Amino acid sequence: MPPTLLEIDQLTTTLSTDTGDIRPVSDVSLAIASGETLAVVGESGSGKSMLAFSIMQLLPRAAHIESGRILWKGQNLRELGAEPLRKLRGKQIALVFQEAGSALNPVRTIGSQLAEPLRTHLGLDRKQARERAVELLAEVQIPDPSRRVSDYPHQLSGGMKQRVLIAMAISCDPELVIADEPTTALDATLQAHILELLAKLKEKRQLSLLLITHDLSLVKANTDRIAVMYAGRLVEEGPTGSILDAPEHPYTRGLWQSLPKARAGAPGKVKLHAMSGNVPHLADLPPGCAFAPRCPDRFEPCEQEVPSLEASPETATKRNACYLNDAVLSSMTSRT
Ligand SMILES: Nc1ncnc2c1ncn2[C@@H]1O[C@H](COP(=O)(O)OP(=O)(O)OP(=O)(O)O)[C@@H](O)[C@H]1O
Ligand SMILES: [Mg+2]
Repeated sequence: MPPTLLEIDQLTTTLSTDTGDIRPVSDVSLAIASGETLAVVGESGSGKSMLAFSIMQLLPRAAHIESGRILWKGQNLRELGAEPLRKLRGKQIALVFQEAGSALNPVRTIGSQLAEPLRTHLGLDRKQARERAVELLAEVQIPDPSRRVSDYPHQLSGGMKQRVLIAMAISCDPELVIADEPTTALDATLQAHILELLAKLKEKRQLSLLLITHDLSLVKANTDRIAVMYAGRLVEEGPTGSILDAPEHPYTRGLWQSLPKARAGAPGKVKLHAMSGNVPHLADLPPGCAFAPRCPDRFEPCEQEVPSLEASPETATKRNACYLNDAVLSSMTSRT
């Protein structure tokens, strides 16, 4: 077994809003092993980005981590001071932001934006940093990199901007890259190319990847494990093949059934919004399972208490938070 790189343990993040406090990340436990690719999937608003920002501790002002641990090689990042945390960000864990357009500074050339982390984290001088920036652009397959390095973001296509962000993310040779919807703004062919690029870089550089997406057509070929989020919580998690072929949580099943093309592995832009009903507002969650109001299989316990995430009786490598899982049901009765 490869060693665990990142372990998230019962992480809860609270966000203050006009209508009260909400928990976009609620009691989430997850681990990523060295060299592994984990996909976090879920409908819009399920808390995927807030999870990424919580790991990096780059939360908006109104949010804070309420409880839980974020262990990086066994060290709790919540206990790390601001300076060591800043050094770790970018150098060991890098984030590719969701919005390629707004993540780049429009008034600085991509070369100078690429050079910045190289100078601060790796101590390269101006000339070395520029040379390295050109190499990085070549590595993310931007044509004519020695000319492109002087371009401003508006001179690049959406796909190229995304590649620049990936180049920035890998520039200091991180061990983990968190890519938040690296492909949403792009068309299907470009999306596939970006994913291929990430997969190649992962192999070449022995990276671990945390891939956040609501595009299921992308996860099958590109990930080792899948974690499904619903209303801030993990509802199911396990090896990709087993989660796609034999989903156990009714939410996961609903997502998959509404996406026959994605299950068959057909390329194309297939999004997770075809299921009936909506994700509940986080300020107005039901007392039990947040999915219960939409669930075809709900029964009494579902409306009483939030189900905990437990190992599946079928395979110990899978976990789900559904009262159809006997382990979840017995954890409820043992608590009451
Ligand atoms: N800065 C913010 N201010 C107020 N609410 C926020 C903020 N950021 C996120 N939220 C709320 O937190 C919840 C989780 O949002 P998040 O952005 O993590 O979802 P997501 O799963 O990344 O969605 P998407 O697929 O659309 O990117 C949502 O209810 C959202 O409205
Ligand atoms: Mg998001």
